[in-house]
Amino acid sequence: MSAIQFILQCIYFLLPAYFANMAPVIFRKWFSFLAGPMDMGKTFRGKPILGKNKTFRGLVTGILTGIGIAFIQYLIRNTSMAHYLTLPGLDYSLWLHIGFLLGAGAIIGDAAESFFKRQIGIKPGKPFIPFDQTDFVIGSLAFISLVYFPGWHIVAAVLILSIILHISFNHFAFWLRIRDEKW
Ligand code: CTP
Ligand code: MG
Repeated sequence: MSAIQFILQCIYFLLPAYFANMAPVIFRKWFSFLAGPMDMGKTFRGKPILGKNKTFRGLVTGILTGIGIAFIQYLIRNTSMAHYLTLPGLDYSLWLHIGFLLGAGAIIGDAAESFFKRQIGIKPGKPFIPFDQTDFVIGSLAFISLVYFPGWHIVAAVLILSIILHISFNHFAFWLRIRDEKW
Protein backbone atom coordinates (compact mmCIF):
# COMPACT_ATOMS: atom_id res chain seq x y z
CA MET A 1 0.00 0.00 0.00
CA SER A 2 1.33 3.44 -0.91
CA ALA A 3 1.50 6.32 1.56
CA ILE A 4 -1.09 8.19 -0.50
CA GLN A 5 -3.52 5.28 -0.30
CA PHE A 6 -2.95 5.03 3.46
CA ILE A 7 -3.74 8.72 3.95
CA LEU A 8 -6.82 8.54 1.72
CA GLN A 9 -8.06 5.45 3.58
CA CYS A 10 -7.73 7.28 6.91
CA ILE A 11 -9.71 10.25 5.57
CA TYR A 12 -12.37 8.03 3.97
CA PHE A 13 -12.78 6.09 7.22
CA LEU A 14 -13.42 9.29 9.16
CA LEU A 15 -15.55 11.07 6.53
CA PRO A 16 -18.77 10.57 8.57
CA ALA A 17 -17.01 12.16 11.58
CA TYR A 18 -15.64 15.09 9.57
CA PHE A 19 -19.06 15.84 8.08
CA ALA A 20 -20.76 15.35 11.46
CA ASN A 21 -18.32 17.86 12.93
CA MET A 22 -19.11 20.37 10.15
CA ALA A 23 -22.88 19.82 10.34
CA PRO A 24 -23.52 22.14 13.32
CA VAL A 25 -21.87 25.00 11.44
CA ILE A 26 -23.55 24.21 8.10
CA PHE A 27 -27.05 23.91 9.65
CA ARG A 28 -26.54 26.81 12.06
CA LYS A 29 -29.49 28.78 10.61
CA TRP A 30 -31.84 25.77 10.37
CA PHE A 31 -34.02 23.79 12.81
CA SER A 32 -34.43 26.69 15.25
CA PHE A 33 -36.50 24.49 17.55
CA LEU A 34 -33.27 22.57 18.31
CA ALA A 35 -31.19 25.69 18.96
CA GLY A 36 -31.23 25.34 22.76
CA PRO A 37 -27.98 24.55 24.59
CA MET A 38 -27.25 20.91 25.48
CA ASP A 39 -26.26 21.94 29.02
CA MET A 40 -29.65 23.70 29.43
CA GLY A 41 -27.75 26.81 30.51
CA LYS A 42 -26.57 25.09 33.71
CA THR A 43 -23.23 25.66 35.44
CA PHE A 44 -20.68 23.41 37.20
CA ARG A 45 -18.24 24.91 39.76
CA GLY A 46 -19.47 28.35 38.72
CA LYS A 47 -18.72 27.85 34.99
CA PRO A 48 -21.14 26.95 32.15
CA ILE A 49 -21.05 23.15 31.76
CA LEU A 50 -20.61 23.24 27.96
CA GLY A 51 -21.48 26.82 27.01
CA LYS A 52 -23.99 28.34 24.64
CA ASN A 53 -22.32 27.04 21.44
CA LYS A 54 -23.09 23.36 22.11
CA THR A 55 -26.69 22.94 20.97
CA PHE A 56 -29.11 20.07 20.41
CA ARG A 57 -29.13 21.18 16.78
CA GLY A 58 -25.44 20.27 16.61
CA LEU A 59 -26.06 16.89 18.21
CA VAL A 60 -28.98 15.94 15.96
CA THR A 61 -27.59 17.28 12.68
CA GLY A 62 -24.19 15.75 13.48
CA ILE A 63 -25.56 12.26 14.09
CA LEU A 64 -27.88 12.37 11.05
CA THR A 65 -25.07 13.67 8.83
CA GLY A 66 -22.74 10.92 10.05
CA ILE A 67 -25.36 8.28 9.25
CA GLY A 68 -26.04 9.85 5.84
CA ILE A 69 -22.37 9.79 4.84
CA ALA A 70 -21.91 6.19 6.03
CA PHE A 71 -25.01 5.20 4.04
CA ILE A 72 -23.48 6.70 0.88
CA GLN A 73 -20.27 4.75 1.65
CA TYR A 74 -22.43 1.63 1.95
CA LEU A 75 -24.14 2.30 -1.39
CA ILE A 76 -20.83 2.69 -3.25
CA ARG A 77 -18.94 -0.01 -1.30
CA ASN A 78 -18.56 -2.32 -4.32
CA THR A 79 -16.97 0.23 -6.64
CA SER A 80 -13.24 -0.01 -7.32
CA MET A 81 -12.80 3.46 -5.85
CA ALA A 82 -14.38 2.32 -2.57
CA HIS A 83 -12.17 -0.79 -2.53
CA TYR A 84 -9.12 1.46 -2.88
CA LEU A 85 -10.35 3.80 -0.11
CA THR A 86 -11.67 1.31 2.47
CA LEU A 87 -9.50 0.20 5.38
CA PRO A 88 -9.02 -3.59 5.56
CA GLY A 89 -11.81 -5.29 7.53
CA LEU A 90 -14.19 -2.32 7.59
CA ASP A 91 -17.64 -3.58 6.54
CA TYR A 92 -20.02 -0.84 5.38
CA SER A 93 -23.05 -3.11 5.61
CA LEU A 94 -22.82 -1.88 9.24
CA TRP A 95 -23.42 1.66 7.89
CA LEU A 96 -26.00 2.52 10.56
CA HIS A 97 -23.60 1.59 13.39
CA ILE A 98 -20.65 3.23 11.67
CA GLY A 99 -22.53 6.46 10.91
CA PHE A 100 -24.15 6.72 14.32
CA LEU A 101 -20.96 5.95 16.27
CA LEU A 102 -18.69 8.24 14.23
CA GLY A 103 -21.32 11.03 14.22
CA ALA A 104 -22.32 10.84 17.88
CA GLY A 105 -18.69 10.29 18.90
CA ALA A 106 -17.63 13.42 17.04
CA ILE A 107 -20.26 15.64 18.65
CA ILE A 108 -19.84 14.18 22.14
CA GLY A 109 -16.04 14.33 21.92
CA ASP A 110 -16.32 17.98 20.92
CA ALA A 111 -18.77 18.67 23.77
CA ALA A 112 -16.39 16.99 26.23
CA GLU A 113 -13.64 19.35 25.07
CA SER A 114 -15.96 22.33 25.60
CA PHE A 115 -16.48 21.14 29.18
CA PHE A 116 -12.72 21.38 29.84
CA LYS A 117 -12.48 24.71 28.00
CA ARG A 118 -15.20 26.18 30.21
CA GLN A 119 -13.60 24.80 33.39
CA ILE A 120 -10.25 26.46 32.61
CA GLY A 121 -12.05 29.69 31.67
CA ILE A 122 -11.89 29.75 27.84
CA LYS A 123 -14.96 31.53 26.45
CA PRO A 124 -17.24 29.71 23.91
CA GLY A 125 -15.84 30.08 20.39
CA LYS A 126 -12.30 30.91 21.53
CA PRO A 127 -9.57 28.55 20.31
CA PHE A 128 -7.85 25.82 22.33
CA ILE A 129 -5.30 24.38 19.91
CA PRO A 130 -4.74 21.46 19.22
CA PHE A 131 -7.77 20.13 21.12
CA ASP A 132 -10.36 21.92 18.93
CA GLN A 133 -8.89 20.02 15.98
CA THR A 134 -8.72 16.60 17.62
CA ASP A 135 -11.63 16.43 20.11
CA PHE A 136 -14.13 15.09 17.58
CA VAL A 137 -11.63 12.57 16.16
CA ILE A 138 -10.84 11.20 19.61
CA GLY A 139 -14.58 10.94 20.36
CA SER A 140 -15.43 9.25 17.08
CA LEU A 141 -12.50 6.78 17.32
CA ALA A 142 -13.52 5.90 20.89
CA PHE A 143 -17.12 5.28 19.81
CA ILE A 144 -16.35 3.41 16.55
CA SER A 145 -13.96 1.08 18.40
CA LEU A 146 -17.09 -0.62 19.75
CA VAL A 147 -17.55 -2.18 16.29
CA TYR A 148 -14.20 -1.63 14.53
CA PHE A 149 -10.72 -0.82 15.81
CA PRO A 150 -8.36 0.21 12.99
CA GLY A 151 -5.05 -0.15 14.92
CA TRP A 152 -2.92 2.41 16.77
CA HIS A 153 -0.87 3.43 13.70
CA ILE A 154 -4.12 4.61 12.10
CA VAL A 155 -5.17 6.40 15.29
CA ALA A 156 -1.88 8.31 15.28
CA ALA A 157 -2.12 9.11 11.56
CA VAL A 158 -5.72 10.40 11.71
CA LEU A 159 -4.94 12.66 14.67
CA ILE A 160 -2.15 14.41 12.76
CA LEU A 161 -4.18 14.53 9.53
CA SER A 162 -7.20 15.93 11.33
CA ILE A 163 -5.29 18.84 12.80
CA ILE A 164 -4.21 19.86 9.30
CA LEU A 165 -7.66 19.28 7.73
CA HIS A 166 -9.63 20.97 10.49
CA ILE A 167 -7.52 24.12 10.56
CA SER A 168 -7.84 24.37 6.77
CA PHE A 169 -11.62 23.94 6.93
CA ASN A 170 -12.09 26.52 9.68
CA HIS A 171 -10.09 29.08 7.74
CA PHE A 172 -12.17 28.32 4.66
CA ALA A 173 -15.45 28.67 6.65
CA PHE A 174 -14.18 31.96 8.10
CA TRP A 175 -13.39 33.15 4.60
CA LEU A 176 -16.93 32.14 3.48
CA ARG A 177 -18.27 34.08 6.50
CA ILE A 178 -20.06 31.04 7.97
CA ARG A 179 -17.64 30.99 10.92
CA ASP A 180 -16.76 33.88 13.22
CA GLU A 181 -13.38 32.52 14.35
CA LYS A 182 -10.47 31.68 12.08
CA TRP A 183 -9.25 28.82 14.28
N1 CTP B 1 -22.39 23.90 17.25
C1 CTP B 1 -23.63 23.58 17.77
N2 CTP B 1 -23.79 22.47 18.54
C2 CTP B 1 -22.75 21.63 18.80
C3 CTP B 1 -21.49 21.94 18.29
C4 CTP B 1 -21.33 23.09 17.53
O1 CTP B 1 -24.60 24.30 17.54
N3 CTP B 1 -22.97 20.54 19.56
C5 CTP B 1 -22.24 25.11 16.41
C6 CTP B 1 -22.16 26.38 17.23
O2 CTP B 1 -22.79 27.42 16.49
C7 CTP B 1 -20.66 26.62 17.29
C8 CTP B 1 -20.19 26.14 15.93
O3 CTP B 1 -21.07 25.04 15.63
O4 CTP B 1 -20.33 27.95 17.51
C9 CTP B 1 -18.73 25.74 15.89
O5 CTP B 1 -18.50 24.66 16.78
P1 CTP B 1 -17.14 24.52 17.57
O6 CTP B 1 -16.03 25.17 16.83
O7 CTP B 1 -16.99 23.10 17.93
O8 CTP B 1 -17.46 25.29 18.93
P2 CTP B 1 -16.99 26.67 19.48
O9 CTP B 1 -17.89 27.76 18.96
O10 CTP B 1 -15.52 26.83 19.31
O11 CTP B 1 -17.33 26.52 21.05
P3 CTP B 1 -16.44 25.87 22.21
O12 CTP B 1 -15.59 26.99 22.73
O13 CTP B 1 -17.44 25.39 23.19
O14 CTP B 1 -15.62 24.76 21.62
MG1 MG C 1 -14.54 22.00 20.04
